[in-house]
Amino acid sequence: MKMGIFYGSSTGNTEVAAEKIKEQMGEFVPDEIVDVRNASPEQLLEYDLLFLGVSTWNIGDMQDDWDEFLPRLEEIDLTGKKVALFSMGDQDGYPYNFLDAMGELWEMCKARGASLVGVWPTEGYRFDESRALHDEEHFVGLGLDEDNESELTDDRIRDWLLKVVEELGFDVSAAAE
Ligand SMILES: Cc1cc2nc3c(=O)[nH]c(=O)nc-3n(C[C@H](O)[C@H](O)[C@H](O)COP(=O)(O)O)c2cc1C
Repeated sequence: MKMGIFYGSSTGNTEVAAEKIKEQMGEFVPDEIVDVRNASPEQLLEYDLLFLGVSTWNIGDMQDDWDEFLPRLEEIDLTGKKVALFSMGDQDGYPYNFLDAMGELWEMCKARGASLVGVWPTEGYRFDESRALHDEEHFVGLGLDEDNESELTDDRIRDWLLKVVEELGFDVSAAAE
């Protein structure tokens, strides 16, 4: 299974998370991480599993580069592709829109036929509303908050990746090497 990492990041936080995921996934992610600003929709089709990273801006808005890229998703069919989402937000500053863009990104991928891996518990986060909910107790992907809980980021990424890899049916120890 070939995995690729695509991200959009306005101040670099999601980019750093993408780098950490690449580092931890080792040989599962053979290529460099890709900024969606420089990506083509066809590039997504090179992979079986897509790690997609996004941040939320301007009270519930999609990060700028994803916002430009998303209409172009109409050009491709993601049937048979798996998507694992990771996302930066600010739960204290924007408790009614925490991680909204991740929910929107998933809706777009779902509409193009993708399936989801790596839903993540909402337990331990404080927020009032989010469009990124999968169900009452889970986000559609990993929630990260570099503004308020940067000390938790590394553990969250590690634990989430172990869960993703397990869901995919791989030997967990292989990912950590
Ligand atoms: C003007 C502004 C608006 C923001 N709006 C939201 C929001 O609606 N929801 C949210 O969860 N985070 C929001 N954030 C927080 C960012 O998503 C957060 O700082 C993130 O780490 C930025 O990641 P990036 O550098 O990868 O773009 C906002 C930040 C700023 C400065």
